[in-house]
Amino acid sequence: MVRSVVATAYGGPEVLAVVETDVGAPGPGEVLLDVKAAGVNPADWKTYNGTWGSDPAKLPLRLGLEVAGVVAAVGPDVEGLAAGDEVIGWPVRGAYADRVVVKAETLVARPPSLEWAPAGGLLLTGTTAWHAVTAVHAGAGDTLLVHGAAGGVGAMVVQLARLRGARVVGTASAANHEHLVELGALPVTYGPGLADRVRAVAPKVTAAVDTVGTDEALDVSLELVGDRRRVATVANFHRGPALGIQVLGHGPGADPGTTVRADARRRLVEMAGDRRLRVHVGATYHLADVARAHRAGIDGVVRGKIVLVP
Ligand SMILES: NC(=O)c1ccc[n+]([C@@H]2O[C@H](COP(=O)([O-])OP(=O)(O)OC[C@H]3O[C@@H](n4cnc5c(N)ncnc54)[C@H](OP(=O)(O)O)[C@@H]3O)[C@@H](O)[C@H]2O)c1
Repeated sequence: MVRSVVATAYGGPEVLAVVETDVGAPGPGEVLLDVKAAGVNPADWKTYNGTWGSDPAKLPLRLGLEVAGVVAAVGPDVEGLAAGDEVIGWPVRGAYADRVVVKAETLVARPPSLEWAPAGGLLLTGTTAWHAVTAVHAGAGDTLLVHGAAGGVGAMVVQLARLRGARVVGTASAANHEHLVELGALPVTYGPGLADRVRAVAPKVTAAVDTVGTDEALDVSLELVGDRRRVATVANFHRGPALGIQVLGHGPGADPGTTVRADARRRLVEMAGDRRLRVHVGATYHLADVARAHRAGIDGVVRGKIVLVP
């Protein structure tokens, strides 16, 4: 029996519970992992808070889309992995647990230099950011505007765009400006007058990535970037498709980027392993404190990734 977190109903973090379940043995193509760290993402609470609808027939809902852990057992036809291997996985289901069964194809070896907590929080935001900078072709000669640059996805977009040679302007609250400078971005405060503040530090913005989803983020991006195909959002699935910008992720009219994201896993792990890419872990919580972890995430009081440890 293992402990795992489920949402027992639709609602706020109070619906989360730690339950005892039987994970069973890994089947063909599967691996059983002892979980060392599981990244917390907004998608986790959107799963049970009604953002994506509510279907009582699906309850209880298992949570946790990314994981770092140690292989405990491998399924019958799994090659190249053995008990004791240390790995990082995305996309998985049910990572908020002591143990979880995942598909072998989702796993990449953990470099010893990458601690467990950042390893567990690397891949969901990292692959999303990789998709975004690829989609807008951020590179040398560009000035990229990143909305929500101090967030999980935003901080990855900033770093990857810098590594590709782009200049980056990032929006954040004032408390996060120093952090943005450390990441290599020119910080600007979001809110009324944003377009003028961006122009003041960067007269020509050539591409934009929105990780926030507000009308302000979309409108300012459209105002400052001439080519709409060089504007991408990962957070506004309502207006995005009609605007002719790139809408990335899972939703109607969006590009899930399945291949580009899967291919990015290995590169991201390599870059985090040699410290070209940093996962800033803002807080770790024990599995039993999952509701507290989610409240902190929803309230936006933690800078950087929140990670659960069993
Ligand atoms: N489509 C996809 O494939 C995909 C994948 C991953 C995530 N997402 C979505 O992307 C969004 C961001 O995820 P995340 O993990 O980066 O979240 P996060 O770590 O919670 O970051 C959110 C950031 O938004 C900033 N922010 C809050 N209000 C803002 C506003 N009005 N204007 C500008 N910035 C604002 C915050 O900055 P301050 O703290 O400085 O205020 C914070 O750093 C979520 O909606 C998530 O569901 C989509």
